[in-house]
Amino acid sequence: MSPPRLARRTFLKTAAAVVTPWIVPASVFGATAPNDRITVGCIGTGNQGFNILKQFLKHAEAQVVAVCDVNRGSFGYRDDKQYCGREPAQKLVHEHYGAGRASGRYRGCDAFGDFRDMLARRDIDAVTIVTPDHWHAVMTVLAARAGKDIYCEKPLSLTVRDGQEMVRAVREHRRILQTGSHERSNPVTRHACALVRNGRIGQVKRVTTFVGYHNKVGPGPGWQPMPVPNGFDYETWLGPAPWAPYHQDRCLYRFRFIYDYSGGQVTNFGAHSNDMAQWALGMDGTGPVEVECLDAKFLPEGSLFNAATETRFRCRYANGIELVCETEKSSVGARFEGTEGMVQVGYGGFFTKPESLKTSTIGPDEIRLGTSDDHVGDFLHSVRTRRDPVAPVEVGHRSATVCHLGNIAIWLWKRGVKKVLRWDPQRQEFLNDADANALLGRTRRGPWQG
Ligand SMILES: NC(=O)c1ccc[n+]([C@@H]2O[C@H](COP(=O)([O-])OP(=O)(O)OC[C@H]3O[C@@H](n4cnc5c(N)ncnc54)[C@H](O)[C@@H]3O)[C@@H](O)[C@H]2O)c1
Repeated sequence: MSPPRLARRTFLKTAAAVVTPWIVPASVFGATAPNDRITVGCIGTGNQGFNILKQFLKHAEAQVVAVCDVNRGSFGYRDDKQYCGREPAQKLVHEHYGAGRASGRYRGCDAFGDFRDMLARRDIDAVTIVTPDHWHAVMTVLAARAGKDIYCEKPLSLTVRDGQEMVRAVREHRRILQTGSHERSNPVTRHACALVRNGRIGQVKRVTTFVGYHNKVGPGPGWQPMPVPNGFDYETWLGPAPWAPYHQDRCLYRFRFIYDYSGGQVTNFGAHSNDMAQWALGMDGTGPVEVECLDAKFLPEGSLFNAATETRFRCRYANGIELVCETEKSSVGARFEGTEGMVQVGYGGFFTKPESLKTSTIGPDEIRLGTSDDHVGDFLHSVRTRRDPVAPVEVGHRSATVCHLGNIAIWLWKRGVKKVLRWDPQRQEFLNDADANALLGRTRRGPWQG
């Protein structure tokens, strides 16, 4: 039997307060270690869910005790070799902890189809949410209410209103939330952003952020629905999204090309790239004050994938700095151009002008942008210490908001509304623009409303 939650939490906090370094070795807990580690349930064990699960398994201070997916197990994810879903995830956990079985330290890993059953388990401290974006807000709010700490993938939200709701729930229930913006735990990105933040390129004049092209092809107009495969709970996969007929290219991995479930590559890659910009510019608690679509391309009307295939939008911050977010082959990255130099960082590499900036160090009196080199480790540290991680809920929300603003400008532009939208980052509303404000949130289906 696990100890009562309050007592266990109090113990974790006390342990964190008196033991340094911050990782409390599992050995201090003795033979019953599994119940005194941070117990984790993983929701969404698909393409990225498997990566995150493996990262949690590497940390001895955590114990994965449950997995959850609406897919029992199948191929059909990002690449042909991936076999994902709850049963393969459970198998991975069994194999990983298998050696501890004889000593009695391993108590098994449950596999759930309904995340609410997992949330109802009182012995789970933290959950990962690695489902499509249309589920992030509902799951985060219910997890926060259930007293779980949360590692939620980027983009944190599907809409601005979702993000605000997530911030409120996490703070109201005093939960830890780490956004999966792992570039905040990448030392190269941190150094690049710190150079910009500390004025090493002079006054920043212009920022360019990148988002990638579609990497999958979906069916064109006239596509036909398909039968739902055995072992896949399609109704629950759709959840809060509008009902739509099943097609295999709607769901696993490919949801990111359909606006009902995602913001397209603008939020998929933009959640990283615009996050870098917000970080480097010191804009974490706020955002731009205007946004304008410059260009967008779409597949023919009636295609299953309706998210823009190429985009270009411009934002301006209150201090005059311009940010242009555009489709580019390096997919994730940001370029900062200043009066005295340039810094570019992302999946395409790290470049500076002058080149000497690259190896220059950030001095003790300069602004430092954290120390995390391990995003999951940073989350577990926060669970113990109750201090915010490197990408807390507000950071995830504000970085996703930059992407959502871009998408709203793009959607209006597609309808023929070609104008600069003015945004109030304090009130989180467009100024005098009912059409744009109507796009800040969405109605959820069935029981998932409110
Ligand atoms: N940090 C990163 O660099 C990074 C990389 C890839 C994906 N992601 C993010 O991770 C999330 C998932 O993306 P993916 O590529 O892994 O998608 P995916 O489709 O491969 O996996 C999502 C999984 O969630 C499951 N799922 C859907 N609804 C569910 C529900 N109600 N309950 C339980 N499981 C449910 C699906 O069946 C699927 O197995 C997205 O938000 C994406 O943006 C982040």
